[in-house]
Amino acid sequence: MASGQELIIHPGHEELAAAIGARLITKLLDVQGAGRGAHLCLTGGRGGTSALAATLASPACDAVDWSRIDFWWSDERFLPAGDPERNETGARAALLDHIVVDPARVHPMPRSGERFGQDVDAAALAYARELALAATPGELTPTFDVCLLGIGEDAHVASLFPGRTEADAPESVVSVRNSPKPPPTRTTFTMASIRRSDEVWLIASGGGKAEALRLALAGLPESDAPAGAARGIRRTLLLADRDAARLVAAG
Ligand code: 6PG
Repeated sequence: MASGQELIIHPGHEELAAAIGARLITKLLDVQGAGRGAHLCLTGGRGGTSALAATLASPACDAVDWSRIDFWWSDERFLPAGDPERNETGARAALLDHIVVDPARVHPMPRSGERFGQDVDAAALAYARELALAATPGELTPTFDVCLLGIGEDAHVASLFPGRTEADAPESVVSVRNSPKPPPTRTTFTMASIRRSDEVWLIASGGGKAEALRLALAGLPESDAPAGAARGIRRTLLLADRDAARLVAAG
């Protein structure tokens, strides 16, 4: 296992989602207990969305002051507002629509249509600007207290796919065309932005993620396994269920 990664295995998909929800609430309460607002970065996909639904279902959900949390996304499908394939749509339905948030602190990545039409490059640039506005002067993004990331079957995270150049771009956010995972047009954090997270939590659920989790833990170059290069400043957790972890041992 490459240094700095912690693998935590839960029995099944439900337990994994519930544990991530509980962990997230605890982390946010810690941050708020220290008198700070939190920056939370959300992900798309089944794993990330189930974790948000489990957060809502937790009896401790209302202990968090969600109105003091800034919500960001590490990637998004460049589709119209409300499209069911948008990561934003899934996160709103699973959690955000059911808690009290400050709309000014919810930062969805741009939708197609609206301000940017089909110009995904302009959309990426606008999100980079929004991040910079929330950052300490001179930094590209705020420090995210937690960055949730679903691991894809090919060991991608966000919309950073193996063998592509987006991860290494100097910007904080870039456009993606011809994504190997549909839909083809997206915006995504670069790896530099992901690494501006205090804690990165990678989520792997189900047997279809077993090889991806093995690759993420194998210390491979970033271009072969982006999930393995996604590291937090202080902590990098790989949160898996038993099916996803069947090719790796708990370390
Ligand atoms: C996306 C995602 C992507 C996702 C993983 C895992 O927009 O497609 O952000 O990175 O999180 O592919 O998705 P699943 O949990 O659905 O497998």
